[in-house]
Amino acid sequence: MISDARFTTIAVIVALAGSLGAGYAASQTASHALASPDSFAGIADPQKRSAAIFTELGKVLTHPRCTNCHPAGDSPRQGDTPRLHQPPVARGADGHGLETMRCQACHLKANFEPGRVPGHPEWHLAPREMAWEGKTVGEICEQIRDPARNGGRKVDELIDHIGKDTLVGWAWKPGFGRSPAPGTQEQAGALVEAWVKTGAACPAP
Ligand code: HEC
Ligand code: HEC
Repeated sequence: MISDARFTTIAVIVALAGSLGAGYAASQTASHALASPDSFAGIADPQKRSAAIFTELGKVLTHPRCTNCHPAGDSPRQGDTPRLHQPPVARGADGHGLETMRCQACHLKANFEPGRVPGHPEWHLAPREMAWEGKTVGEICEQIRDPARNGGRKVDELIDHIGKDTLVGWAWKPGFGRSPAPGTQEQAGALVEAWVKTGAACPAP
């Protein structure tokens, strides 16, 4: 038989776990949604509207599903915390890893659920100048519209890159219980388009 004191402790733990679980679910839902470009129509000043739209897009850009592949150093990160990639790997000359440890040795053309390994035919690390990890949304904005640091893209090319590129799209179907990037890829593309059309202004860094 369980003593009263022990029973109370167990009951408290169970209740606590329950309320933590509910809080977690609620915050997940809140952070998971993306506002539509229309919801910024009330901001009359185009520059302020543009910056506000980018701030919304920033929920995607700063999500671990994106930043794990846009790290500050030479190694990708894993998970939501996020932790350094295990086993240790480095970007190498072409972002596909060192000669001895290529990304493709483990990352196949599609997610491999039994091994929890994400996959895509072009799976590799974003170049160093495209690092987003640890940066503010304003800093990422300045960098993303700078052709010297965005792979030579014009800002309007970012509409399709974020809205349609399939490697970027992995972030919304990441497999094995990983939390997807907020909203949908289409909604993210619509925010980029609205941002470009309003003059591609950046929020304060
Ligand atoms: C020896 C096998 C192996 C190699 C080589 C490897 N990976 Fe991984 N990688 C994994 C496994 C397994 C996971 C899943 C770990 C988990 O989520 O628990 C993973 C997860 C990741 C993630 C995390 C995705 C997320 O958001 O959680 C990224 C990013 C990643 N790898 C990038 C790379 C890149 C880039 C390379 C090449 C430079 C590479 N990996 C090389 C095995 C490997
Ligand atoms: C598996 C790794 C990987 C993941 C995951 C990933 N990227 Fe990238 N990203 C890359 C690579 C590699 C490049 C460089 C390719 C190029 O320039 O064509 C890149 C380049 C970019 C660029 C253009 C350069 C820049 O920084 O302005 C954008 C925009 C971008 N990624 C957006 C995203 C977004 C948004 C997400 C998450 C929804 C994401 N990426 C997730 C690997 C990744």
